[in-house]
Amino acid sequence: MATPALLIEGLTKDYAVGFRRRPHRALDGLTLRIEPGEVFGFLGPNGAGKTTTLKLLMQLIYPTAGRAEILGRPIGDIGARRRLGYLAENPSFYDYLTAEEMLTYFAQLFGYQLPERRQRVSDLLDRVGIGQERRFQLRKLSKGMVQRFGIAQALVNDPEILFLDEPMSGLDPLGRRDVRALILELREQGRTIFFSSHILSDAEAVCGRVAVLAGGRLVAQGRLTDLREFSARGWELVVANLSPDALERVRPRTARVTPISAGRYGLELPPDSAPDAFLAELVAAGASIVSLNPLRETLEDFFVERVTRAASDARH
Ligand SMILES: Nc1ncnc2c1ncn2[C@@H]1O[C@H](COP(=O)(O)OP(=O)(O)OP(=O)(O)O)[C@@H](O)[C@H]1O
Ligand SMILES: [Mg+2]
Repeated sequence: MATPALLIEGLTKDYAVGFRRRPHRALDGLTLRIEPGEVFGFLGPNGAGKTTTLKLLMQLIYPTAGRAEILGRPIGDIGARRRLGYLAENPSFYDYLTAEEMLTYFAQLFGYQLPERRQRVSDLLDRVGIGQERRFQLRKLSKGMVQRFGIAQALVNDPEILFLDEPMSGLDPLGRRDVRALILELREQGRTIFFSSHILSDAEAVCGRVAVLAGGRLVAQGRLTDLREFSARGWELVVANLSPDALERVRPRTARVTPISAGRYGLELPPDSAPDAFLAELVAAGASIVSLNPLRETLEDFFVERVTRAASDARH
């Protein structure tokens, strides 16, 4: 088998907390294997241990137990570090420098020489959508712009593997879309991307596989489509210009009808219904379709269910 891009074995972290420095287990025996070229979503609610894992991989903190390899080398190996990029959860930069100056500094650290360096900095800022703002001091950029800068920073050394801690946080819908597109572009180039998020739709848009962490433990992993917990549990349809007659005809096949305004309704369809035929019937009756969305369990539902089930299993 090819060398995995990332291999994590039994990684465990206890933080010492409080006056008595009691250990608090933030990560408990995490084992994962990620192949080269994968876009892997590392999901979990607040406090699940995502940032802890990424900090362990970057050796910003050290494990209580377990080990990991990046690009076939033990973490900390300088050769492997040159080939990775990292975006921290709350990155902070020298914020009296401009975006351009700061990125030039990072490029210098990686040994890029002029004129290539100037071109590289300019291309990266273009790529993440920082325009005129590149001449602003970083402290004058909005949160979303700083986040974009952070992504440019993570790409400065043309890394083979990227570790991104909540890359979409602080971004508006356009910014999220741009970051998704950028991740897909990086995947096309064959890079491996490991990113954390607590937003399922971000993972759905770009990930082949995901792992779900809760309370420091791995509770699920696999392809999103194979994780039964995330399959659609129905459809939510919004229609306009729906006549009362047509509504009565379809009502028995819906799970719920919510009036929104005159002629406009939210219809919930059960998972086994074929939405195509249903939509065609509505359109034939003169209604117009506003939207159709799969109803899914959110990550939050998933956690509530898993965590309560784990707790009740423990009691029995
Ligand atoms: N330096 C620290 N000292 C003590 N406990 C910590 C420390 N850092 C994190 N923790 C605890 O470890 C657990 C995991 O935190 P972590 O930051 O890894 O979660 P996360 O999954 O990144 O959450 P979020 O989605 O909020 O970023 C939490 O209970 C947190 O309070
Ligand atoms: Mg975090």
